[in-house]
Amino acid sequence: MYQTKIAGLGKYVPENVVTNDDLSKMMETNDEWITERTGIKERRHIKKGDGNSTAVMGVKAAKIAIERAGISKDDIDLIVFATLSPDYYFPGCGVQVQEMLEIDTCPALDVRNQCSGFIYGMSVADQFIKTGMYKNVLLIGSENHSGGLDFTTRGRSVSVIFGDGAGAAVLTRSDHNGEGILSTHLHSEGKHALELSLKGPSTEHWVPEIIAENPQGDDIPYYPYMNGQFVFKNAIQRFSEVINEGLQANGLEVSDIDMLIPHQANLRISQFVQQKFKLKDDQVYNNIQRYGNTTAASIPIALTEAWEEGKIKEGDIVVLAAFGSGFTWGSAIIKW
Ligand code: UT7
Repeated sequence: MYQTKIAGLGKYVPENVVTNDDLSKMMETNDEWITERTGIKERRHIKKGDGNSTAVMGVKAAKIAIERAGISKDDIDLIVFATLSPDYYFPGCGVQVQEMLEIDTCPALDVRNQCSGFIYGMSVADQFIKTGMYKNVLLIGSENHSGGLDFTTRGRSVSVIFGDGAGAAVLTRSDHNGEGILSTHLHSEGKHALELSLKGPSTEHWVPEIIAENPQGDDIPYYPYMNGQFVFKNAIQRFSEVINEGLQANGLEVSDIDMLIPHQANLRISQFVQQKFKLKDDQVYNNIQRYGNTTAASIPIALTEAWEEGKIKEGDIVVLAAFGSGFTWGSAIIKW
C-alpha cells in the first residue's frame, strides 16, 4: 500500500470585494447582523466580464498548485473537481479543467458533496493513490455562488453568507511511510437533504414547471434554501464527532492537533468546535471574515493560506473537517 501526500497547494479568489455595507445597499441587512451571526466582513464575487467561472477559477488555483508540486500538467493522472455551482448543468467542471490545462486526455471526476466536497474528493484521490492506480491527482474545490443567489431581502439569510473562490491541491504518492494523509472519514444523512438545497432546475423541477408553479416568483426553487438553525445544530455535532473519529482511528489525542482547518461555514461554528476541543487561537485557522463561506473551496483556500503563512510545518498533525448540504460531513487527518 502506498501513502498520499499533499505536494502543492494553490488558491484563487476574484478581485471584486463585496463588503457587508455593499450588501446593505441591495437588501435589508447590516454589517452588525452579519458580523455578529457569522463573523463575515467581506467576500469576493465574480464580476460580469472578468472572465471568471467556476472552472476558470479552479484552473487558476490549480496552476499554482501544480507549479508548487514541481510536476508538469502532463503528469496528472486524474482530475477531481468538487463544486455545487458548476458552469454547466452537464458536463461537469472536471473536463473543462482538463481542456483548459491542455492535458491531452485523462480521467476527470466531478464530486457533488457541497461543503464536504473537498474532503470527499481527497478521500477518492487517496484511495486511487494508495492502491497504486494513480500517482498524481489534481483536486480542486471551486464555487461561483454569486451567480445564483437572491440578492433581495427575501434571500438575505443565505446570500450574505456565501462567496466565490477556488482552491486546489496536487496529491502525490509519497516515498516516506507515515507522512501524508493518515485517514479520511466520510458520512452522509440524506433524510436532511432538503434542509440545505437547491431544488431546480432538476428532473423534479424543470424550469417551465418552476415558472408555471410560481407565477409571482415568491417561492423560487432555483435559489438555495437553508434551514439555518437546524443546519447549525447538526454542524456543531457532526464536526465534533468526525474529528474525534479521525483522531481515534489514528490513536491520536486532541493534544496532538497542531492545526485544525474547519470548513468555513460560520465563525461561530468554528469557535464552538475550538472551545469544545480546548484548542488555542493559533491551532484553528479561520478566514471566513474575508471570504465568506466558499463551500467546496473553503478548505483548500484556508489550507493554502495557512501553509503560505508558515502556520503548517513538516511533521505537524493537520485536521480538516467539514459539514454541509446532504447532509454530508467528513474529516481528514494529515501528517505534514
Ligand atoms: O456551509 C454549509 C453549512 N452551513 C451552515 O453551517 C450555516 C448554519 N447556519 C447559520 O450559520 C445561521 O443559522 C445563519 C447565519 C444562517 C442565520 O443565523 P441565525 O442566528 O440562525 O438567524 P435566524 O435565521 O434565526 O434569523 C434571525 C433573524 C430573523 O428575523 P426575526 O424572524 O427574528 O425577526 C431573520 O429574518 O434575523 C433575520 N435575518 C437577517 N437580518 C439581517 C436573516 N438574515 C438576515 C440578514 N440581515 N442577512
